[in-house]
Amino acid sequence: MRILFLGDVIGRGGRDAVTAALPDYRARLRLDLVIVNGENASHGFGLAPEMARAFFEAGADVVSLGNHAWDRREIIPYIATEKRVIRPINFPAGTPGAGSVILTLADGRRALIVNAMGRLFMDALDCPFRATDELLSRHKLGANIQAAIVDFHGEATSEKEAFGHSFDGRLSLVVGTHTHVPTADYQILEKGTGYMTDAGMCGSYDSVIGMAKAGAAERFWRKMPGERLQPADGPATICGVFVETDDATGLARRIAPLRQGGRLSQSFPDLT
Ligand SMILES: [Fe+2]
Ligand SMILES: [Fe+2]
Repeated sequence: MRILFLGDVIGRGGRDAVTAALPDYRARLRLDLVIVNGENASHGFGLAPEMARAFFEAGADVVSLGNHAWDRREIIPYIATEKRVIRPINFPAGTPGAGSVILTLADGRRALIVNAMGRLFMDALDCPFRATDELLSRHKLGANIQAAIVDFHGEATSEKEAFGHSFDGRLSLVVGTHTHVPTADYQILEKGTGYMTDAGMCGSYDSVIGMAKAGAAERFWRKMPGERLQPADGPATICGVFVETDDATGLARRIAPLRQGGRLSQSFPDLT
């Protein structure tokens, strides 16, 4: 299965870049499954239903979230009916929406997509390790599902690496989100799980994690709430990771970063 995961989409600039590029990526990479993290799609804060619809229309199959899941309140009734939008699985019991979804592709293959959130330097939540373990006790890679992907939304590299190694061999891909900077450690772990600490954001890198520089820096100079942060101007770099899995085992055969447009060095998966 050929899977593309794109990191946190920032505001209109990020949305426009992603929706313009996805049909081309889907064709060129012959993608079976596309997942987009949409927690910052609405001006940096949250996801509105029409933005999720635009991602789906452009070729996304699932939209994941994170700590900004509820910043746009319209998502609350929407997530109750749209199963392709998922929020962290370790939110408190009774939270609207679901932390995972199983998609059945047109050819019958099934993929499990999970959103989990870290706890180090983040809000206090239930344990993402135990929540994922419990879910995977019911879904076995290579048996009733052909691929399993976790978007691990977290601040700390250590927690993300610990998560990746803990589930090595039970997932196709563990990819981090939330730090908004792509890491260079994309690899296939010892037992076959694709791993990348952070996919990076889809937004302008002439910024502080996607937001306009001056206002964002001011918050560090003075410990006062400033004006509302604005997404930075400038062309977006679309950032993510491509994984190809073996349908028999569900494990990763190859992994490659994607960085297109904007200021970062360019990289596009080579299928040859
Ligand atoms: Fe984010
Ligand atoms: Fe986040």
